[in-house]
Amino acid sequence: MNSFFEILHKLFGFTLPERAAEGVQYVDNLYNFIMFVSVVGFVGMVGVMIYFVIRYHHTQNDKSAYIPGSHVLETIWTAIPAALYIGIAIWGLVVYFDHTRVSKDAYKVNVIGKQWAWEFQYEHNGQKFSTLDVLYVPVDTEILLDMTSTDVVHSFFIPSARLKKDVVPGMRTLLTFKPTKLGDMQVFCAEFCGTSHSRMLATIKVLSKKKFEAFLERESKNANVSDPVELGARLVQRKGCFACHSADGSRIVGPTFKGLWGRETTTEAGEKITVDADYIRESIIAPQAKVVKGYPNSMNSFAGQLSEEEIDSIIEFLKTIK
Ligand code: CUA
Repeated sequence: MNSFFEILHKLFGFTLPERAAEGVQYVDNLYNFIMFVSVVGFVGMVGVMIYFVIRYHHTQNDKSAYIPGSHVLETIWTAIPAALYIGIAIWGLVVYFDHTRVSKDAYKVNVIGKQWAWEFQYEHNGQKFSTLDVLYVPVDTEILLDMTSTDVVHSFFIPSARLKKDVVPGMRTLLTFKPTKLGDMQVFCAEFCGTSHSRMLATIKVLSKKKFEAFLERESKNANVSDPVELGARLVQRKGCFACHSADGSRIVGPTFKGLWGRETTTEAGEKITVDADYIRESIIAPQAKVVKGYPNSMNSFAGQLSEEEIDSIIEFLKTIK
């Protein structure tokens, strides 16, 4: 049986992404089997059709037998496909429930989807820290992703683990996978979520257990920073602000951070303002309040996600982008 599936995988598996997580082959077996049935069905049916077209072409002067009906034939061509489809449906359910099983004992990472970045939050020795658009995990270990969104529906898709799950605001969704290969796994956002949806990518870096421990040690120690500019720089990076605001003066979605501090600007309402600490603070907590003229009103509030101290350090950092 296994060698049958190996042959099928050689025939059809070239269309599939690499296998980098446990249990992936069971999804592939089903997929390859459906491909096999489809190809056999297609070739068989079209083959017989072409044969008849030639065999009974009017120039052959040979008429096919006249068959008014056959209960035997009808029973066969109803029963075989029906059994096949019901079999595939049951097989699909078994694979689906097994492959999407969530393990609560697994190593947990919190995932925040937002327009347009992925934030990954870890905890080590009581110290919390996060990474942006790169998820670090240990190899051969069950990983539990506890996911939510701050704005719209996103979808966390790992092709090489054959897993995809919606990431929904106001709701937690869970995903478990066990990486089996060192190296990178690509992640896509698989739900259209606005302007930069196609750029909402992440990489899963699968490390050896030793390297992952070292990563946790290093990052949890690093997470303790006292310099406000440094802390602000990290927050701006990790909260994904650069997805919409450039640091070099170029226009992405929102106004650039370059030369932000003290900039004279006009709001949609026509009000003239000078960018100061109050304005930046308000723009983080209530971004809809004073939208800069000519820019979309598309930023979501970061209220509840940042402490006052963190907002202050972001302001200190923004002052330095001249
Ligand atoms: Cu997030 Cu598409």
